[in-house]
Amino acid sequence: MLKIVTIGGGSSYTPELIEGFIKRYDELPVTDIWLVDIEEGREKLEIVGSLAKRMVEKSGLPIKIHLSLNRREALKNADFVTTQIRVGLLDARIKDERIPLKYGVIGQETNGPGGLFKALRTIPVILEICKDMEELCPNAWLINFTNPAGIVTEAVLRHTSIKKVIGLCNLPIHTKINIAEMLGVERERVQVQFAGLNHMVYGLNVYLDGANVTKKVLDILTGDTKGAIDMNNIPDLDWEPEFIRALGVLPCSYHRYYYQTQKMLEEELEAYKKNGVRAEVVKQLEGDLFELYKDPNLDIKPPQLEKRGGAYYSDAACSLIDSIYNDRGDIQTVNTQNNGAIAGIPNESAVEVNCVITKNGPIPLTVGELPIAVNGLIQQIKSFERTTIEAAVTGDYHKALLAMSINPLVPSDTVAKQILDEMLEAHKEYLPQF
Ligand code: G6P
Ligand code: MN
Ligand code: MN
Repeated sequence: MLKIVTIGGGSSYTPELIEGFIKRYDELPVTDIWLVDIEEGREKLEIVGSLAKRMVEKSGLPIKIHLSLNRREALKNADFVTTQIRVGLLDARIKDERIPLKYGVIGQETNGPGGLFKALRTIPVILEICKDMEELCPNAWLINFTNPAGIVTEAVLRHTSIKKVIGLCNLPIHTKINIAEMLGVERERVQVQFAGLNHMVYGLNVYLDGANVTKKVLDILTGDTKGAIDMNNIPDLDWEPEFIRALGVLPCSYHRYYYQTQKMLEEELEAYKKNGVRAEVVKQLEGDLFELYKDPNLDIKPPQLEKRGGAYYSDAACSLIDSIYNDRGDIQTVNTQNNGAIAGIPNESAVEVNCVITKNGPIPLTVGELPIAVNGLIQQIKSFERTTIEAAVTGDYHKALLAMSINPLVPSDTVAKQILDEMLEAHKEYLPQF
């Protein structure tokens, strides 16, 4: 028996995951997939769960799909638990993205004030899930997709006894695939040395068949094919070519919020006037997706799902589970305990870094010191992350204010307090600790 439990199973992303398990069945013979959700998600769970059942049926594989609103029942003896929850649903994300805009600050799912509040809402729920896991499946791996994935991973490491936790994001694999496409080669020939934090990760070196092609990739990034490395959910504004050359390492799409703050804010305000914030666009997309999912003749993952930012998410999740299960020893980029891999970051903190994936989990490859030019921002964001976790766990107003104020996207203490107060009020239903 090989039992997977997916918390937040009613998510529109679930068909990605199911497709991933079906594709890998020969090497990863999953017997049971439990899709778990809460009462508010019942309808979505039933719709996406029925699609999951049709997909499995079409495959002819002996995988059983179970739908459940009872998390504790589902967790019993799980081998892998994946979490993809969104506390407060997309309506909470809409507030995260809209409220900061009123104060001239970027509103984003995982960065700035939005990221802070997503963490404040999510961490208490994740810690509850971990308590259940400690009791019901203490040997299971927790693969966390829930954003902000790096912060959530560190909260689990610091505040629970669960050590078998891995935070996962599709950005590294997405970037690697984009680079391979750009170079016109198969993705297996490309290696990217990623290091940093979640949504704050740099490609320090890029290799093609073992030869260092970093400079060539940076040239392409700023040349004709600029925009080739991009996430669907982030505006792909042009980089200043000389800046990228000076930096000498590959920034990720989210770095635009930090290095191009003003332009990104203007872009966001314009998009907001036209179509609403990203969460509103996603809400529409999601509504359309669920309409498609309802079709009893649909038995594949619909291509429309690829418009979401989570493209290649199943590749990341299923490859990781496969490598642990089969003790593959391959290299994947995950969020894990630093343990000295990146100098200057506490051993106990989570980092996003290349790891050898074994049956005992990820073993981070040593990076050493980060280039001076990127280390400052990484340290600043790590301070923000740690302060955020303390605020989430204690419900201390001053810690939350500190987190908001030290975030590089927030311009001043006073603006920090104004945004904090408005967001605490707007989200109070999902912030029992405050
Ligand atoms: C990327 C990020 C995810 C994020 C998603 C948002 O995939 O890695 O962490 O949740 O984009 O995409 P969306 O379509 O919801 O805006
Ligand atoms: Mn991510
Ligand atoms: Mn206080």
